[in-house]
Amino acid sequence: MHSRPNIRFLLNGRDISLDDVGASDTLLDYLRLERRLTGTKEGCAEGDCGACTVLVGRLQDGSLRYEAVNACIRLMASLDGCHVVSVEYLSGPHGKLHPVQQAMVEHHGSQCGFCTPGFIMSLYALWMQKPDPSEDEIETALQGNLCRCTGYAPIIRAAKAITEHGSPAEDALTMERDDITTRLSALQDGKRVDLRKDNSRAILPANTDDLAQVLLETPDATMVAGATDVGLWVTKFLKDISPVVFLNHLEELRKIERRDDHIHIGAGVSYSDAEAILCDEYPHLRAFWDRIAGWQIRNMGTIGGNIANGSPIGDTPPVLIALGAEITLRRGDARRTLPIEDFFVDYGKQDLVPGEFLETIRVPRPGPDARHSAYKISKRRDEDISSVCAAFNVTVQNGTIQSARIAFGGMAATPKRAASAEQALVGQTWAEASLTAAAEALAQDFSPLTDWRASAVYRMQVSKNLFRRFYAEHSGATSDVQLVRG
Ligand SMILES: Cc1cc2nc3c(=O)[nH]c(=O)nc-3n(C[C@H](O)[C@H](O)[C@H](O)COP(=O)(O)OP(=O)(O)OC[C@H]3O[C@@H](n4cnc5c(N)ncnc54)[C@H](O)[C@@H]3O)c2cc1C
Ligand code: FES
Ligand code: FES
Repeated sequence: MHSRPNIRFLLNGRDISLDDVGASDTLLDYLRLERRLTGTKEGCAEGDCGACTVLVGRLQDGSLRYEAVNACIRLMASLDGCHVVSVEYLSGPHGKLHPVQQAMVEHHGSQCGFCTPGFIMSLYALWMQKPDPSEDEIETALQGNLCRCTGYAPIIRAAKAITEHGSPAEDALTMERDDITTRLSALQDGKRVDLRKDNSRAILPANTDDLAQVLLETPDATMVAGATDVGLWVTKFLKDISPVVFLNHLEELRKIERRDDHIHIGAGVSYSDAEAILCDEYPHLRAFWDRIAGWQIRNMGTIGGNIANGSPIGDTPPVLIALGAEITLRRGDARRTLPIEDFFVDYGKQDLVPGEFLETIRVPRPGPDARHSAYKISKRRDEDISSVCAAFNVTVQNGTIQSARIAFGGMAATPKRAASAEQALVGQTWAEASLTAAAEALAQDFSPLTDWRASAVYRMQVSKNLFRRFYAEHSGATSDVQLVRG
């Protein structure tokens, strides 16, 4: 396999080639320390506050897409073939403010200003996609941006007013779209990228077969997809992650499509990209989905990473378990497929051997008569990790429960099915009493922990309550607690 020793990308429209990139170098440090583009701020350095938001454009199926991402945990090497846009790119001739900036000024959307460039970039990304967003869409786009002094009302007013100051059709990123697309296409040479800097090595395989080969050659490598977990190992735990193998540029792993009886999801599909198809097939997931992290993290984090990290409080594993998903793992040319629940062996222990990677996820398409729900219980509505996460998939025919798949996160050392509760439901009448009885069986399935997110007693009680909520929702009662913001 031919390789090259440098990454090539565009920064604010300029060609950049770097051959001294380390495995754990972040985009934020590069922008601020090396390019002196200090408009992009560092607040938390862990993907939470959004002060570091930039846009990253990349080609997918030949088409250029820009997404808001957190520069603090975006690893530099992964930018090969991308266009990075920082807040400095927004200034017009003679310092003319961009429509997003002008609207923020007029609506007093900034006080100390520290968070402002991040808000500007998130609103810019939203405005490019939806020039006249609803309040709900604005709030969703700003879930990953925190402001400690202005308050959000003026910022939301500004977001609604941007179009008074200009149109995306006249924006620089639109006008130069063809040119950037041509230049990014020219950067795609089909080669493996192999960056070596002292003891810090980063590899971007040329394609999925090459990834399999690289992992056989370097089985101790850290795989990095969206870096929304691994980025924090670098910025918070100062961990040496070299050698690193990147996955998120591989189009094959980013594929999501409907097939006859299932949805095929490449392990590198981001939360955002999964949303359209998965929530279309399973509409109950829509409200749940935008409670996963904030917009920037959903643009970066992948379904594969959420499974592979094996966290007991990851949000997608309980959902995928309840839906009956299977995963395919690959080592070299050998593949094996298993029900996703079998992947989670114990706390911190997954069924993954050195040199192996998660390649695809297969989610059955919904059958008739199935009733689905997914719930996330967390301290904050937005940008928070679950205390408890629950997913229900129950089939009812002629008033009798034929099958039940129910899975929980936050209740055990791994995401896990509630086997006793499932058993208690099958063959029973679809009635509140059946759900209440099944909830009592949870005590045989789980002995949850007390930690700073929730006590054991709370976890058990809220889990039982979710059975009643599930019943209420599917029996015509309105129960949109999770839609209430505040
Ligand atoms: C601010 C913030 C908010 C968050 N909120 C939530 C939330 O609400 N809910 C939630 O569930 N999570 C949340 N997370 C955690 C994180 O977003 C997820 O776990 C994410 O899905 C990880 O995916 P990634 O692609 O970023 O993984 P990475 O960080 O790239 O990798 C994570 C782990 O998976 C491994 N890995 C990645 N891809 C593969 C593969 N294909 N095969 C084998 N191993 C692989 C990596 O080696 C690593 O061990 C949050 C994180 C942050 C920073
Ligand atoms: S600095 Fe807070 S999200 Fe990046
Ligand atoms: S204006 Fe001060 S943090 Fe937002």
